[in-house]
Amino acid sequence: MFIKNIKMEIVILKNADKATKYATFLIIKQIGKKKNSTLGLASGRTMVPLYKFLTEYYGMGRVDFSKIKTFNLDEYYGSAFFDKKSLRRFMQENFFNGVNLAENSINFLDGGDKKWRVVCKNYESEIRKAGGIDLQILGIGRNGHIGFNEPGSLENSKTRKVKLTGETRGVNGVKYKEALTMGISTILKARKILLLAAGKEKAEIMKKVIEGKIGKEVPASFLRNHKDVVFIMDREAAGRLKRFK
Ligand code: GLP
Repeated sequence: MFIKNIKMEIVILKNADKATKYATFLIIKQIGKKKNSTLGLASGRTMVPLYKFLTEYYGMGRVDFSKIKTFNLDEYYGSAFFDKKSLRRFMQENFFNGVNLAENSINFLDGGDKKWRVVCKNYESEIRKAGGIDLQILGIGRNGHIGFNEPGSLENSKTRKVKLTGETRGVNGVKYKEALTMGISTILKARKILLLAAGKEKAEIMKKVIEGKIGKEVPASFLRNHKDVVFIMDREAAGRLKRFK
């Protein structure tokens, strides 16, 4: 089912596999349109099959990452480069190892650097220097976080250090209490945004994101203020939407 208005597009597909493939095709389409695109990347379980599909399409010669630049959303603060639970390592194992991205085109927040203010400021300017993000890929936390912008994050927030909620630490299975994350305003500057949500544990929050009040209680709701955003869900994640019932 496709519902389109000026502000957002909602795509609901039968299952997680189909939703993930749809997201994969949008990414491939973006790269087809602009070979040197800058992509904003996310981590999380939802992204694992997406990166698997992208790696498979690369293997079939259907997509080329040699001119692509990437900026990941976030990293645990206090995690040295490549720590077992670091998001940098997650990306290496789930995506970077399998495609032809140039090493120096991969950008990541360094969670091991104590000078986090400088790290965050430089990240914003690196994104700017790259000409901005063409396509930002997002997952969503059960409490509505995007990147690590937990509830309470403001629409004008920039890349910064944040505290993780107990829920997020529990769901992600990490000891880290803080993280560095692109801010909401950083994310909203992307030219196009794609959010992928699958599974019934995302149903409650997707209802709030799409049908609830826009505000800091549900950071992902700010995406509705973006002019080119697509929410891609499987039937389970969309299961509580009024229009879908
Ligand atoms: C993490 C990441 C988010 C991601 C979220 C959802 O907290 N920082 O960027 O969207 O988890 O994760 P999952 O896909 O595992 O539900």
